Amino acid sequence: MDWSTADVPDQSGRTALVTGGSGGIGLETARTLAARGAHVVLACRNVERGLAAAARIGGRTEVVRLDLASLDSVRQAAAEIRGRHQRLDLLVNNAGVMFPPFRRTEDGFEAHFGVNHLGHFALTGLLLDLMRHVPGSRVVTVTSLAHRAGTAGFDDGQARSTSGRRSVTAYGRSKLANLMFARELQHRLAGAGAATVSLAAHPGLSATGLWHGDAPALLRPVAGAALRWLAQPPEQAALPSLRAATDYLVPGGAYLGPHALFESRGKPMPARSSRVSLDVSAQVRLWELSQDLTGVRYRLTPADTPACTPEPAARPPQATGR
Ligand SMILES: NC(=O)c1ccc[n+]([C@@H]2O[C@H](COP(=O)([O-])OP(=O)(O)OC[C@H]3O[C@@H](n4cnc5c(N)ncnc54)[C@H](OP(=O)(O)O)[C@@H]3O)[C@@H](O)[C@H]2O)c1
Repeated sequence: MDWSTADVPDQSGRTALVTGGSGGIGLETARTLAARGAHVVLACRNVERGLAAAARIGGRTEVVRLDLASLDSVRQAAAEIRGRHQRLDLLVNNAGVMFPPFRRTEDGFEAHFGVNHLGHFALTGLLLDLMRHVPGSRVVTVTSLAHRAGTAGFDDGQARSTSGRRSVTAYGRSKLANLMFARELQHRLAGAGAATVSLAAHPGLSATGLWHGDAPALLRPVAGAALRWLAQPPEQAALPSLRAATDYLVPGGAYLGPHALFESRGKPMPARSSRVSLDVSAQVRLWELSQDLTGVRYRLTPADTPACTPEPAARPPQATGR
């Protein structure tokens, strides 16, 4: 079945937060949600870029400063959002870095793992109170085909390693962590009887600002050729996130990506998850490590989420490895 932005249902009355909504795929995700009537919070590292994006998007938008490379900033952003909103319907964990100019985050974590995974882990945990009682609420975490290059040996030493700035493996590991986080979150939300579901999406390939990082010399020609031949425009690359966020026929635990040319482009469909991403004990270890490293502990027991109405799921759930 084809699926496009025309299939995004009316989002009036809903509030969506998109991290990294100032550019690339996040901007296109935010644009469509706003065009469909959602109130969209753009959580951006660079507020000026965020305000410029909000002006381009139009509709009901606002900007919150969020630097995922700083747990202080994540806490401040979460407090600000909680001060401004009583509920959140959608959280799209989209922001990301690849081969960034800095080695470590403010808290001393390897840059990819710190920004792409730990920042989003902390943000989600700090915002979940605004979501868990909201029928139809969804957390969508954006991962990558590159998760297949990741290995699951997550530990404190790797999380603080300085060797990852220009490493494909370090980027892949952070994207593997995104996917494993989405799966473990779904397991815990379901176990707690929360109204929220968690899904993952990847955009395929798109020639966005992500590719302006300081890539290893050997990779540059390969990446250049891949982008020339396979990349799809950001508005198309946003479709897997948009479908995961708004198509209620897609159940919690699902993982979507483009269907064609090795999942690099095309319509958003169920995507192939690496074997290691389905390793349940590794998901649990990553969760516990992430709680320890960020100091954010999720309150996800059935007692924390009384009287929730789960959204209807019309299709059988995807395999989640459990
Ligand atoms: N493009 C692709 O081919 C591709 C492929 C697979 C997966 N992805 C994933 O898709 C997602 C979106 O990437 P994109 O392609 O749209 O890249 P992009 O154009 O570079 O956008 C990334 C966004 O993340 C924000 N960001 C970066 N570091 C941040 C931080 N420390 N705190 C808060 N926000 C931060 C950026 O904000 P600034 O404006 O401040 O820089 C920007 O808005 C990422 O998760 C990426 O891993 C992309």
